[in-house]
Amino acid sequence: MKFCSDCHAPPQPAVHQAKEWPNVLYRMQERRRMKAYELMSDEELAVLTDYLERHAKEGEQ
Ligand code: HEC
Repeated sequence: MKFCSDCHAPPQPAVHQAKEWPNVLYRMQERRRMKAYELMSDEELAVLTDYLERHAKEGEQ
């Protein structure tokens, strides 16, 4: 996944619970902005968020 591996190895979805992923992606988008990397589109973010949430760590809500 290029959007993540520009900076580090793409993380496993299970490193976060579903409810945490939108926040993490927001932070990473801000990091792309600071580096002047091409931003993820709303659609790309939606697909990524959906994938990460569906494979996220189980846990108490
Ligand atoms: C512009 C560089 C950059 C890009 C692109 C980037 N990251 Fe990161 N990421 C970082 C840095 C720097 C850290 C360590 C500091 C931190 O935790 O915020 C980090 C840390 C993380 C962490 C561990 C910290 C935590 O909150 O769990 C996760 C998970 C993560 N990134 C996910 C992603 C995903 C998913 C993508 C792709 C959509 C992505 N990153 C793209 C720079 C980037």
